[in-house]
Amino acid sequence: MKLAPVSGLHNLSEFSLKQLISWGDHLKVHQPQIDAQHEAIFDLALEIAHIWQDRGDLGELRALAEKLNKVLKAHFRYEEQLLAEIGYPGLVAHQAEHQLMLEELQVILDRLHKSESGTIAGEPGLAFQNYVLGLTVGHIFNSDMDYCLYARKAVSNQEQVWPAS
Ligand SMILES: [Fe+2]
Ligand SMILES: [Fe+2]
Repeated sequence: MKLAPVSGLHNLSEFSLKQLISWGDHLKVHQPQIDAQHEAIFDLALEIAHIWQDRGDLGELRALAEKLNKVLKAHFRYEEQLLAEIGYPGLVAHQAEHQLMLEELQVILDRLHKSESGTIAGEPGLAFQNYVLGLTVGHIFNSDMDYCLYARKAVSNQEQVWPAS
C-alpha cells in the first residue's frame, strides 16, 4: 500500500488521512487484549475523522471525544500495568506520554463543550482531528511499537513474549 507524501497535517488529503488511521496487522503488538484495545481506538479515530471531514454535528463529535476519553483511560492503565510486569525500561517516559495525552484531550473536551455552533467549523474540531492523528500515528504507531520491540528482544529465547493473560 503506497501512502501519499505527508508534508503537514493540514495538507493531508482525505484519502491519505483515512489510510493513516486504518487498523491493520502491521500495528499489532501481538498481545491480544492490547491489540483489541488499539483496534477499538483506531476505529474511534476513523469515526472522528469521518465526522470532521463531513463537517458533521458538534454534538456527535463531543460524544465521541467523551467515549475516547473513557477508552483511553482504561487502555493506558492496562498497558502501563503490563509494561511494569515485563520490566519495560521506558515505562516512566511512556507513562508521561499517556498523561500528557489525557491532559490534551481534557483541554479539547472543554473547548468542545464551550463551543456553541451546531456544526464543526474550524477549531476545536481541527485540534481534535490533529490530536487523534498524534494518538494513532504518533503514539501507537511509534511509542507503542517501541515496547513491542523490547518485549520481543527481551524474550527472544522464550516462546512466551507476553505474560499469560
Ligand atoms: Fe497503547
Ligand atoms: Fe501507550
